[in-house]
Amino acid sequence: MKESNLEALQAAFQAKIDKDIRIEPKDWMPEEYRKTLIRQISQHAHSEIVGMLPEGNWITRAPNLRRKAVLLAKVQDEAGHGLYLYSAVETLGADREATIDDLHSGKAKYSSIFNYPTLSWADMGAIGWLVDGAAIMNQVPLCRCSYGPYARAMVRVCKEESFHQRQGFEIMTTLANGTPVQKALAQDALNRFWWPALMMFGPNDSDSPHSQQSMDWKIKRFSNDELRQTFVDVTVPQAEMIGLTIPDPDLKFNEETGHYEFGAINWDEFWEVVKGNGPCNADRVAARRNAKENGMWVREAALAHEEKRKAKQAS
Ligand SMILES: [Fe+2]
Ligand SMILES: [Fe+2]
Repeated sequence: MKESNLEALQAAFQAKIDKDIRIEPKDWMPEEYRKTLIRQISQHAHSEIVGMLPEGNWITRAPNLRRKAVLLAKVQDEAGHGLYLYSAVETLGADREATIDDLHSGKAKYSSIFNYPTLSWADMGAIGWLVDGAAIMNQVPLCRCSYGPYARAMVRVCKEESFHQRQGFEIMTTLANGTPVQKALAQDALNRFWWPALMMFGPNDSDSPHSQQSMDWKIKRFSNDELRQTFVDVTVPQAEMIGLTIPDPDLKFNEETGHYEFGAINWDEFWEVVKGNGPCNADRVAARRNAKENGMWVREAALAHEEKRKAKQAS
């Protein structure tokens, strides 16, 4: 392509972004924009799918039928989110199976939060309240992302995420108002999930090299630190309301700024988990790999059935 043509295409692309006109699959886009979206959306899809595992662990042990039905619906929603997002990746020309293979080989990442174990029923509350709560903070701005299919997928996903957040908070509220043992379980779950939830927003802005480009392309609308601050400001009063204590001795409200100040995040722990050394990384990837291998016969049977059906129709 001639240099001047490329420049004109790039200028037209940026002009659309600046005017908040969505980029659609068949529109011209810079290769880096495409690559960034493929990476981000596929990581997001993997997070939805891997995120089913820690909660799936408690479906058979939910304390009653109502809790079981709600948790089942929630985990099923996450499968749906994963499927929309894999479809959105395909609109960018990526191959779905290759993307999934990258997860299974360890090449692709997913949200580090899902590499922590779920040790008690209260963790279902903490995950809904904190993890889905943090996901909403991240995902609501994505409804205005410059790439059309991703933005549209996020509208429905966010509606479901807010149901997830509320069901988690309801579990925590019930436990926090229950017996001393139940309240202790809720506090313990908060203690274990608070810091990993803050890490979900990613490194501090000063250590986040891709952020500025993503902001210019309007893939990202707020920085990691801005989103993390909003999450803390919204969540701390919720903990107070149900009588639980945020596990951070440095947490205090700053009257002047109107924001909570919080203690230092353990970034060494974050990077260890991202590198694959978290408590459950190996288990999570192995579970996904097994699901693919053990489910292969279903795909083969479905394909064979389809072939037969076609042959019958043709004859
Ligand atoms: Fe989700
Ligand atoms: Fe969710």
